[in-house]
Amino acid sequence: MKKPKVLITRKIPEPAVLLLKEYCEVEMNPNDKAMPRNELLSGVKGKDAVLCLLTDKIDDEVFKAAGKQCKIFANYAVGYNNVDMEAATKRGIFITNTPGVLDDATADLAWALLFSVSRRIVEADQFTREGKFKGWKSNLYLGRDVTGKTLGIIGGGRIGRNLGKKAKAFDMKIIYIANSRKVAFEEETKARFVDKDTLLREADFISIHVPLLPSTKHYISEPEFNLMKETAILINTSRGPVIDEKALVKALKAKKIWGAGLDVFENEPYLEPELEKLSNVVIVPHIGSATIETRNNMGLMAARNIIQALNGEIPANTLNR
Ligand code: DGY
Repeated sequence: MKKPKVLITRKIPEPAVLLLKEYCEVEMNPNDKAMPRNELLSGVKGKDAVLCLLTDKIDDEVFKAAGKQCKIFANYAVGYNNVDMEAATKRGIFITNTPGVLDDATADLAWALLFSVSRRIVEADQFTREGKFKGWKSNLYLGRDVTGKTLGIIGGGRIGRNLGKKAKAFDMKIIYIANSRKVAFEEETKARFVDKDTLLREADFISIHVPLLPSTKHYISEPEFNLMKETAILINTSRGPVIDEKALVKALKAKKIWGAGLDVFENEPYLEPELEKLSNVVIVPHIGSATIETRNNMGLMAARNIIQALNGEIPANTLNR
């Protein structure tokens, strides 16, 4: 019997490729970079399924190029702002994502950034490597306490909840904002549901865990920075455009807040040049889910969704039922 055809738009970990190869004829972009648009459009042609990544713009032109036989685009990410959902739904194409398997890794990176900024790890590492450490000093790289402080979580989803659960180990008071109260979130984290202004005013640490939507673009901008404490630390492991980067640079330069830890940027992979000049910001290149185990699991989850769709089932992680 002829095997269904699958395109993987960019190199992904091997376990997912091996799983797909058991059931499908797999074509994978061998390069570790996004396919140029024309290659993507010709690559999807005639495929029954596509495993795509957040660096691919998946819109109606792509669905049309794929053809009517195409059943699913499985996004190798939990975020899916790169996909035109409405167009997929109109064409009856399943879109799936990879929820759950990256919660620990992403929340852990938020913690890593939180500690890096609060304890000035990157600055201190640089100083030590440069041979500047000439002996203990009472005021060398003074940071800010984490234990016992208030953590403000923006977003009531799985990753925010995971972060909140871990905050209990540091005796933190947790406040959160979301579209509505989340019972499981509150039970697990003992967080208090507050309004946006209260969170901005009261939190010592603010961590963002919302998807990028028209309503969350520039959710944190100048008015929000004006409400934050001068000692506040802002962490973003969600999507860059949730923060107005120009307003962030202004706030960091004016010391309106203590610092920021960023895994994501407004116009990735472009890095706002002003950001890299500032010592009160720690920047890493969108590696929230980048652990070997998590990336393997994301791949396997996307592959299983594809296999389900090709078997005529509704994939487990369908976003547009
Ligand atoms: C996601 O899954 O949305 C992350 O940004 C990449 O893993």
